[in-house]
Amino acid sequence: MLSHSDSPLYQSGFGNEFSSEALVGALPVGQNSPQRHSHGLYTELLSGTAFTVPRTEARRTWLYRIKPSANHPRYERAARQITGAVLGPVTPNRLRWNPPAIAGSATDFIDGLVTMAATSPAEQADGITVHLYTANVSMQRAFFNADGEWLVVPQQGRLRMVTELGVLEVQPQEILLLPRGMKFRVELLDAEARGYICENHGSALRLPDLGPIGSNGLANPRDFLAPVAHFEDRREPCELVQKFLGELWTTQLDHSPFDVVAWHGNNVPYKYDLRRFNTIGSISYDHPDPSIFTVLTAPSAVHGVANVDFVIFPPRWMVAQNTFRPPWFHRNIMNEFMGLIDGTYDAKAEGFSPGGSSLHNCMSAHGPDNATVEKAIAADLQPHKIDGTMAFMFETSKVLRATRHALESTDLQDDYDTCWADIKNTFTGDKA
Ligand SMILES: [Fe+2]
Repeated sequence: MLSHSDSPLYQSGFGNEFSSEALVGALPVGQNSPQRHSHGLYTELLSGTAFTVPRTEARRTWLYRIKPSANHPRYERAARQITGAVLGPVTPNRLRWNPPAIAGSATDFIDGLVTMAATSPAEQADGITVHLYTANVSMQRAFFNADGEWLVVPQQGRLRMVTELGVLEVQPQEILLLPRGMKFRVELLDAEARGYICENHGSALRLPDLGPIGSNGLANPRDFLAPVAHFEDRREPCELVQKFLGELWTTQLDHSPFDVVAWHGNNVPYKYDLRRFNTIGSISYDHPDPSIFTVLTAPSAVHGVANVDFVIFPPRWMVAQNTFRPPWFHRNIMNEFMGLIDGTYDAKAEGFSPGGSSLHNCMSAHGPDNATVEKAIAADLQPHKIDGTMAFMFETSKVLRATRHALESTDLQDDYDTCWADIKNTFTGDKA
């Protein structure tokens, strides 16, 4: 556990052409790659998209660093791999897991990764992969993921994320976006940490279009925070681990990889406080589709179909009249991996704890449990606020296959189906 007296500084906005320098004059003006940098730095381009995508899609950042990333010896396959690398047998069943325990032995963020589900085997990376993490010690090494962008959803414990572009501190109810390939080190600011990761193999997450909602609402761009340049000039050994097609590979640098003195671009890490989400809902009857709660979306090649949406169920007022207010029963073409950051979820009376997970795949029938249904039908409908809750969903257009580890885990609830088992037949026939 570390303590830092200085809180990180941030720049506000989403998709901006950010720029930052930790030393005055380290950021070249009017040219990306001068012959001789004024501070003796090397220029490196980190591309998050193909060079030739439309300008609106392009994500890239220019880095001015002490040593180029190419200055590394050969990678060797790591002795310890991520738990849950193998997908399990296909099942159409609804699945729910208890929160994972945090190990008693020293476990850093990488050792504590467990893969729960994926839309394809790692060597055919497509769609998304869902991991959980637990940790009780800070990383003494650096890591990057070549397989996709990471959306990190802390559920317990604050994290100090040292990245190539600067430092971000995140806590539960905040999220973190890490671009594909961005090197980082996770330090713990509390004794233990636990959370969820959506690994997005497709096009990068972005803010959704707002359509008839207009120019404001949902997640506002100014609430996304990018870091400012912050560098380490350490000429000492540092292990660098990468994930490449699902496997961990390791090499030993002779310097800190967090040596970027200045940078500019739009391929950057962000954090966002979910409590700043501007929730929009019905003020007459019924309630809108849960897409109204989309924080970020990554489009697929099919217009209107997301590779993955990140959706939250935050505190909000319920005012709709003559309406069954919990999330409706439904069957969905999309595939839904849910987690709970805090409190209780309004569709489940029990069994879904903070840190727990559920998976409802394509066309699996789900919705509120029996206790929630009875309570909602009997309720005297007054305006009331759902408070003290933060649930979320990784919703993908491709079926998520649970890993063998997830299916064999003692955290898997054998009795999940029973939460819908006692729903009564209240049909009145011709007496209505
Ligand atoms: Fe659903």
